[in-house]
Amino acid sequence: SEGAIAVAHPNIALVKYWGKRDEHLVLPCADSLSLTLDVFPTTTEVRLHPHATRDYVTVDGVLARGETPRRITAFLDLVRDRAGRTERALVATRNTVPTGAGLASSASGFAALALAASHAYDLPLEPAVLSRLARRGSGSAARSIFGGFVVWHAGAPDAPDPDLASYAEPVTDARVDLAMVVVLVETGPKPVSSREAMRRTVATSPRFHDWLAATRGDLQAMRAALAGGDLAAVGAIAESNALGMHKTMENAVPPVRYLTDASRLVLDSVRRMRHAGTQAWATMDAGPNVKVLCAGDDAEHVAYELRELSDRPTVVGRSGPGATLRTGA
Ligand code: DP6
Repeated sequence: SEGAIAVAHPNIALVKYWGKRDEHLVLPCADSLSLTLDVFPTTTEVRLHPHATRDYVTVDGVLARGETPRRITAFLDLVRDRAGRTERALVATRNTVPTGAGLASSASGFAALALAASHAYDLPLEPAVLSRLARRGSGSAARSIFGGFVVWHAGAPDAPDPDLASYAEPVTDARVDLAMVVVLVETGPKPVSSREAMRRTVATSPRFHDWLAATRGDLQAMRAALAGGDLAAVGAIAESNALGMHKTMENAVPPVRYLTDASRLVLDSVRRMRHAGTQAWATMDAGPNVKVLCAGDDAEHVAYELRELSDRPTVVGRSGPGATLRTGA
């Protein structure tokens, strides 16, 4: 094939990935669990360009320079190595969400890139293998290969091949209809990349050890809550896990702060809604946006209330699909 186009969606972790044990292989310190959404897809085309001496990357139609193309070329080198190929490529990627705003465009981005590139270089991969590959681009991308609830296994540190042991797979026994209302707090670039922020947290936060212990417990409890159809437990565990992650990074030296005053106002609104009897919980990633978890049937009402309370745009996200190839490329 000369090229391929793939589409992937962001995922939002209910139990967060925060901390690597191997930066080169992108091996996490702990398992994480997410929901892939049906909003904000990334579409990526990889077209082979045999006469070029380097890769060219456009993001939303603009030639990218610096960190983004560097990371994409490093990723394509992995694919080319495995395929035994040398051609350079043109990569054209389109996001439907502001890059760097903590809505994990790196997850949808590297999931779509992994699928499109493996096809463009005639290296069609089965989903688990694709998940491992996407992981090398960005950890959370391992989860966006799959739709719905997804668990990413850290893999045993003493596994014979740690790379093989770390991949994501769907959670097949979940019985919860969960929606996420995204409150778009700000769209500016984030102050610190999640890569650097994670590195700093692992190296300097006195809370990191406790964070890992807590997140391991949260993962077990989350799996039980999903299988048991216990929405209130899912929401409560997700919110406390997210707050714990932010507290852990805020204790790094120097501190990492993604939440703004505006984020905290949304958090207060969610608490007030809860006191007034609405089932709603918050989660936040490497940016100021807040994602509000609620029952699928309540999503439109929760979105309306949050829009009124925060005066910010809201988008309702529901369970979405895994990465797919667009035919006709
Ligand atoms: C806060 O996957 O973007 O969204 O592996 O360094 O590319 P790298 O990090 P990335 O981190 C995501 C962190 C998070 C939590 C999560 O998605 O689990």
